[in-house]
Amino acid sequence: MTSDHKVFDGTGLHDDTLAVRAGFKRSDFGEHAEPIMTTSSYVFASAAEAAARFSGEQEGPIYSRFTNPTVQTFERRLAALEAMPAAIATASGMAATAALMLGTLRQGQRVVATRNMFGSTVNLFRNFLPRYGIEVDWVDGFDPDEWAAVCTSDTRFLFLESPTNPLTEVADIARLADVAQSVDAELVVDNCFCTPALQKPAELGAHVVIHSATKYLDGQGRCVGGAVVGSEALIEQLTSFMRSAGPCMSPFNAWVFTKGLETLGLRMDRHSSNAHAVASWLQSRAGIGHVNYPSLESHPQHALASRQQSSGGGILSFALTGGKSAAWSLIDRVRICSITGNLGDSRTTITHPASTTHGRMTAEDRAAAGIGDDLVRLAVGLEHVDDLITDLDRAISLGVGV
Ligand SMILES: Cc1ncc(COP(=O)(O)O)c(C=O)c1O
Repeated sequence: MTSDHKVFDGTGLHDDTLAVRAGFKRSDFGEHAEPIMTTSSYVFASAAEAAARFSGEQEGPIYSRFTNPTVQTFERRLAALEAMPAAIATASGMAATAALMLGTLRQGQRVVATRNMFGSTVNLFRNFLPRYGIEVDWVDGFDPDEWAAVCTSDTRFLFLESPTNPLTEVADIARLADVAQSVDAELVVDNCFCTPALQKPAELGAHVVIHSATKYLDGQGRCVGGAVVGSEALIEQLTSFMRSAGPCMSPFNAWVFTKGLETLGLRMDRHSSNAHAVASWLQSRAGIGHVNYPSLESHPQHALASRQQSSGGGILSFALTGGKSAAWSLIDRVRICSITGNLGDSRTTITHPASTTHGRMTAEDRAAAGIGDDLVRLAVGLEHVDDLITDLDRAISLGVGV
């Protein structure tokens, strides 16, 4: 199938090189750029070859629900960037989390998770996993002692996002990986906010990484997709699950994400520098309460974030002193920022988490998680930062009169 097919596996190479080269097996046509292989199935030279492929005796594609070369390029490139052995692409970020849970856990096994997570993840864990006999032990923050205290011999996964959505709280990944290890469980990190460009959970001891590729991996708000990254054994198990359950990634989306990975490092640098400038400005703006952004010195885990992440990332949130009406008024008055729930886009997005992305959480859970009605989340894009600040300044002034 391949002529020149150097597969860059990550050994000794820098991320900039892996981002543009890793994982691509060139076909006999010798194409330079990665093509999109839109085919549902693959032909075999003979009945014997078909049998050998289906039995697993011979490697090679069979059917695009579980083997597609374009999807595999994305999987190998993402795994290389995460410095992990393997990855499996899924139809969405939520499909990645659902596949990990349903494809590996048995009735009676348990997950420890923090309430401060993306709303749909909380919903999956609270309302669906228990139906299959998988219980979740909830913790409020990231105190490793608290996590250790709720672990039992049935605990299989410790699950977290860092930084969290939308409060940007930062977990000590290395310490929580130790907690997981000590009870023979695995630490799963949703690395959607930082991406491997800013944080590599595996290098801190995490065992599994989840991605919503929809966010920064695409980076331009075009496609929905996700991935689980982990050991060869885990990915093999999930491949078998995915073959039966079916939430696979389309080749077109995989191609978009593969091309997204090429510019990930460059984009994340700009997202971070823009977000840092906006967060610093908001801190001294009248009408604004606390600002949550990991690379601000006022952030409670600033020191940890500085060790663990190479920069703060593109997401920040802040409270309006005028409460929900001021928050909604700001959102209604911005001209550049888009009112949309997605994040990780080249265009800045603005959201009121309590009534949108986290609206399905119970009011109690939201309060426990610290997501107030006064909170606004900004996913800072790649526009010129002065234009963003002018846009926000004007909208705040019109809304609250200061
Ligand atoms: C942190 C985080 N994880 C997971 C997801 C789910 O990803 P998807 O929308 O691709 O299913 C999101 C979506 O916003 C998210 O913000």
